Amino acid sequence: MAVGERDLDAALDAVLGSGSELAPAAAALSAAYRSGRRPGEVLDDPTAARAYAAVRMPATFAAVRAALRAAGPGLRPTTLLDIGGGTGAAVWAAAASLPSLRSAHVLDGSAPALALGRRIAAGAPDPVLAGATWTPARWPVDLPGADLATLAYFAGELRPEQQVAVVAAAAERAGAVAVVEPGTPAGFADLLRARDTLLGMGFRIVAPCPHDLDCPWATGSDWCHFPVRLPRSARHRQVKGARLGWEDEKFSYVVAVRDGADRPEGRPEGRPEGRIVRHPVQRKGMVELTVCAARPGIERVIVSKRSGADYRAARDAGWGDAWPPHP
Ligand SMILES: C[S@@+](CC[C@H](N)C(=O)[O-])C[C@H]1O[C@@H](n2cnc3c(N)ncnc32)[C@H](O)[C@@H]1O
Repeated sequence: MAVGERDLDAALDAVLGSGSELAPAAAALSAAYRSGRRPGEVLDDPTAARAYAAVRMPATFAAVRAALRAAGPGLRPTTLLDIGGGTGAAVWAAAASLPSLRSAHVLDGSAPALALGRRIAAGAPDPVLAGATWTPARWPVDLPGADLATLAYFAGELRPEQQVAVVAAAAERAGAVAVVEPGTPAGFADLLRARDTLLGMGFRIVAPCPHDLDCPWATGSDWCHFPVRLPRSARHRQVKGARLGWEDEKFSYVVAVRDGADRPEGRPEGRPEGRIVRHPVQRKGMVELTVCAARPGIERVIVSKRSGADYRAARDAGWGDAWPPHP
């Protein structure tokens, strides 16, 4: 069975214990992220890496897993390269959502983060995680090849020209690339840069976009992001000084594949006709959806009770789901 948040939590418990001593380091990490400091030296000591694993890894795991799931079963990599992989959240996410996966290689500039990631993964009930390779490598470096490259919460650590270079290098070495960034205006700006780079390399988008055209939100009028709710363990709450038993992580993402000669026309496998880009609003006898569609862009779709199966689907639909549900 695929690993899930309980397995990650158990592995974090085994390595971090209660993590009670990590609260000051976690607070310093949050302050560093809020200040927008970059490029990212932030994990370059063992205590910062432990604090990151305690307070951020469950959320980055949940966001990357949601992004990979949105790409659907068309994404069938055997090998994964996780660039700027830190403590390995994206490998956990890939192990949780890609049954085809057989091996994973994590690159990161922080030896303490990698060492910790290796210890956390060693406790996973999954051979890809337990057998992953962890290599210290500070970008710019030559990248090994893989079926899928992930860059999770990494592009934003780099200057814009470095972001373009690393995403282009990933696209040269991998058949599919997934980029996930914080769901903030700044994170979305980095994400758009990655999206443009992937399109410029001839890649086609599988998720979230229903097209390879200019993003309707590229003008800065709004930003494309999605929420994922995750449970907070006792350790997570303690280290963060939080009371709620859950948190909502907002993220922006793109998953793109090299343009397959086998499918030059039509949509790449897994790409939806449209995607719900805000919480659906339920009204009496109708559901109002905000949908990003190939044309005209962002549109409001009213699904009334008279629509039968579509209405029932709209009532169950959430922010981030494909629409229509049955192409
Ligand atoms: C916010 S963390 C993200 C870690 C992980 N991908 C995740 O989603 O949880 C950013 C990572 O980028 C790494 N990093 C920053 N600059 C780097 C560079 N130039 N080369 C390689 N890694 C770098 C940091 O060490 C850190 O592990």
